[in-house]
Amino acid sequence: MTQMVKQIIATALEDQQLRPQTLDEYIGQVEVKEALRIAIEAAKIRSLPIDHILVYGPPGMGKTTIAAMVAHEMGSKLWRTTGPAITSPRDLATIVASLQKGDVLFIDEIHRLSRAAEETLYPAMEDFRLHITLGKGLTAKAIEVPLAPFTLVGATTRAGMLTSPLRDRFGLVFRLGFYALPEIVQIIRRASRIYGTAVDGNQAETIAQRARGTPRIANRLLKRVIDYAVARNDGQVAEWVLEETFHLMKIDELGLDEMDRQLLVALARKYGGGPLGIETMCAILGEDRDTVEDVYEPYLIQSGLLERTARGRMLTEKAKRHLRLETQGTHALFP
Ligand code: ADE
Repeated sequence: MTQMVKQIIATALEDQQLRPQTLDEYIGQVEVKEALRIAIEAAKIRSLPIDHILVYGPPGMGKTTIAAMVAHEMGSKLWRTTGPAITSPRDLATIVASLQKGDVLFIDEIHRLSRAAEETLYPAMEDFRLHITLGKGLTAKAIEVPLAPFTLVGATTRAGMLTSPLRDRFGLVFRLGFYALPEIVQIIRRASRIYGTAVDGNQAETIAQRARGTPRIANRLLKRVIDYAVARNDGQVAEWVLEETFHLMKIDELGLDEMDRQLLVALARKYGGGPLGIETMCAILGEDRDTVEDVYEPYLIQSGLLERTARGRMLTEKAKRHLRLETQGTHALFP
């Protein structure tokens, strides 16, 4: 095996190891973890699959990780698919009919299932049965096919995008919110141990402050810092390595990237701080509405830079101060 192939395999393994497999390894979302622990223990005692679970929240919060963890803790097999990949009720029927007792089926972006596929899912979730119509017209015959009891884990960025019949069929509903800074620090330190690169508490905090309360971003930033350290400093992380990495990535102390700043600057300069309609925001960012509402807005609102009012989005005083500092700062990261 070439060195390159070995390295690729090693990186893939590390990335896999980054995902916590057990509830004990999982950092943050304390209440979700507690509820899951109880549901898992009860399911084990009763020798039944755990109830269907809906997880929602911004991207990168750990929705897939939770599905994998539930499967691992239950000693079950995990099957993964996405709403848009299931193009017909037949696709869905094939998937659920092939599940074995206790299997966990993870459907990401479940709000994007077609209405027909969604309706096939209702009896499958509720009674572990498929309702199938054979033939057409007068000779059509409805039959019921029993399924092995399974657990569905559905994930979506916003629970509001689900129809209520679907939402009501989940026994456990969890919202994954932004992680607190100390939790992100812990996640970074855990990942740095897996990568075998020393990162001290202060360095982890410097990275965490820029991670937007999101584990996926924290791990991505850490990886860039480690790359920089390997390429420019014999693998040692140092303060200047952090500074240079974030300068290169154009990420500021609040974790804002160029797109965020472009939006805030446009809002300040062109629109007098707001109110600004969602369509204009989409035009400034060149992104569709779902992406703006699910990816950009939540963090800007959470960090107190943007406010959602009945008339539109407004820039906050904190955002104005931040922009002023940035324009006057030594780095002057944006125009
Ligand atoms: N890596 C990504 N998310 C994590 C979490 N919540 N806990 C531990 N490691 C993680």
